[in-house]
Amino acid sequence: MNTELVKITIEDSDEKFNKAVELLRNEEVVGMPTETVYGLAGNALSPLAVSRIFEAKGRPTDNPLIVHISEFSEIYDLVKAVPEEAKRLAEKFWPGPLTIILPKADKVPYCTTGNLETVAVRCPSHEIARRLIKLSGLPLAAPSANLSGKPSPTKADHVYEDLKGRIPFIIDGGDCAEGVESTVITLAGDKPRLLRPGNVTLNELVGVLGEVEVDDAVLNPLKSTETASSPGMKYKHYSPDAKITLVKGSFDAFCEFVNAFDNKTYAMIFNEDSVENLKIPYIKYGFADYKNLAHNLFDSLRELDKIGAKQCFVRYPDDENKDNLAVLNRLLRAAGFNVIEV
Ligand code: TXA
Ligand code: MG
Repeated sequence: MNTELVKITIEDSDEKFNKAVELLRNEEVVGMPTETVYGLAGNALSPLAVSRIFEAKGRPTDNPLIVHISEFSEIYDLVKAVPEEAKRLAEKFWPGPLTIILPKADKVPYCTTGNLETVAVRCPSHEIARRLIKLSGLPLAAPSANLSGKPSPTKADHVYEDLKGRIPFIIDGGDCAEGVESTVITLAGDKPRLLRPGNVTLNELVGVLGEVEVDDAVLNPLKSTETASSPGMKYKHYSPDAKITLVKGSFDAFCEFVNAFDNKTYAMIFNEDSVENLKIPYIKYGFADYKNLAHNLFDSLRELDKIGAKQCFVRYPDDENKDNLAVLNRLLRAAGFNVIEV
């Protein structure tokens, strides 16, 4: 299959979207930019389109998809009922990087929800994503547009690297502003529960809802006896080919430890770390501030593969700061929970 990569900006006219819209209406899939990461979009109500998404990504079919809408009012079509908490969250954070899980409406097929009775809904703020949803007139299921297991794509080129020959069309809308996937919260249980941290922070959610539980799987590996509240948690994630190890400790201790390795070993450090004492090659992945680290994280992990790194030691962000949860969660999974203290 030939994969077309087409640049579209918000100034472009609706005609520019014709090809993508036609593909979506014909149950095909399209790579689309969002403010978080690129998504692989298809008609969420079409089992054929949904099966094409799973196939292109090589994704296990029990891992459910997020359904994207362009306006709050479209949620009523997808869920059984909209509770007060969902209205308050949407009022504050939509359009934006928050996904809300609720009991699904009958019309949402089980293939979209990985056989669950619930559906994940998000209204992205990216203007190109919203226009694509509006112009197609469809709710769009869209997982991150990477091959299953790889870091999420934050640039159209990442989507092309992973999915060329597997999908017909990618919209290049530039680099994603945020760089980590949306915050996922479920309102389908007794209490609101955070399943995946993102740039809508735990503090912000607590600010709106009062009380929010944090699922164990946010910062811990799933025990083999547990069922995942979010099926995505049980799969290996965000992994470059290089073996990743997170290193807790001062930068001096970090240097002393990593300098013993040869130059196929890389370091991923903060922008403010001064490198005089570091003897191995390195990538700076951002200032030690959660939004900045999030923005560069997946691109840095992909960079490791491009330069042929065999292993990489990564500076560990401050885990006392709850705003760092999203970056920590992604790094812990990329490292298979491999953390050392120096
Ligand atoms: O920012 C994002 O959320 C991006 C962009 C493209 O919108 N999408 C994204 O999708 O990250 P994906 O499929 O890569 O991650 C969705 C996560 C998975 O971990 C999945 O298991 C979980 O959300 N999820 C989806 N539906 C769920 C449900 N009904 N119950 C529990 N977890 C669910
Ligand atoms: Mg994903």
